[in-house]
Amino acid sequence: MACSGCYSVNFMAVSSNPNKPLTSSTLLTSKLSSSYSQIPFSSLKFNSKLSPIQLRISKSAPNSFVVVSGIKAEPLKVMISGAPASGKGTQCELITKKYDLVHIAAGDLLRAEVAAGTENGRRAKEYMEKGQLVPDEIVVTMVKERLSQPDSKEKGWLLDGYPRSSSQATALKGFGFEPHIFILLEVPEEILVDRVVGRRLDPVTGKIYHLKYSPPETEEIAARLTQRFDDTEEKVKLRLLTHNKNVEAVLSMYEDVTVRVDGSLSKEDVFTQIDTALRNVLGQRQAPIGSVAM
Ligand code: AP5
Repeated sequence: MACSGCYSVNFMAVSSNPNKPLTSSTLLTSKLSSSYSQIPFSSLKFNSKLSPIQLRISKSAPNSFVVVSGIKAEPLKVMISGAPASGKGTQCELITKKYDLVHIAAGDLLRAEVAAGTENGRRAKEYMEKGQLVPDEIVVTMVKERLSQPDSKEKGWLLDGYPRSSSQATALKGFGFEPHIFILLEVPEEILVDRVVGRRLDPVTGKIYHLKYSPPETEEIAARLTQRFDDTEEKVKLRLLTHNKNVEAVLSMYEDVTVRVDGSLSKEDVFTQIDTALRNVLGQRQAPIGSVAM
């Protein structure tokens, strides 16, 4: 629509859903009134319904300005989910190495409580041994406290194995923690049992091994490997039942940002899919999304 004395700006907003990039039908139009022409356009910010927008003067073309989204983007916030032994921990090692996020694994936090012999750890172990979810009053506070630490706020976080129920997801939303992306690792059940029984952990480095798929590099490492108390075929079947009972409820709360990944491939190929999804999210949040002549 013609507008005398206005700048008419057409730009594409950034989709918050990595699965659904915006199309031309969702093009956003904004009218900047003539009063804006009185101020230097070094930086003008406003919010669209979809994402924060920032306009900046383009150095290469001073008579135009560039529409940028998420220029000072907050750190990346990632959730990773999947059945027991779907490869969450393995992929988290690779993700943190590349993206330097703070890795927060609900299972690791619980095992640390068990090892420290705290009251929470003693209670948690009863549930972990049965493959059941540890009650919210123990897990929710523990995860919230870790997410609230300065390093998680500054570097961003990678939340592994939480939330596992709609009540946990609701609690997290209530505290203001929302992910940019929710990665779901999909692996057929027959592969999961094989992965669980062959899994070993290095207590010195924390690295995850598998006797067949990812064997230790040296004899020295092989000699010190340990096995988790819940890594038996019998217990993984119970953990799987718990997972299957809750997964849909959790997914329904993160539909908009969910990316499904084929977790049955080699760990390198699984990571390639995740890496692509993360780069898409970062790109959508930081890339210039249009420009206009003044
Ligand atoms: P948790 O420790 O989170 O266990 P889990 O969900 O059962 O998942 P895992 O740690 O067993 O597997 P993973 O997906 O990390 O796989 P990994 O990379 O190690 O939770 C344990 C318990 O704590 C729960 O049962 C519950 O009681 C409690 N709990 C945790 N979170 C809770 C919460 N939010 N609320 C309430 N209770 C909670 O890989 C497995 C093996 O496969 C390894 O040997 C690895 O080398 C191998 N592998 C990985 N990827 C590949 C690949 N692509 N190809 C071949 N091998 C691979």
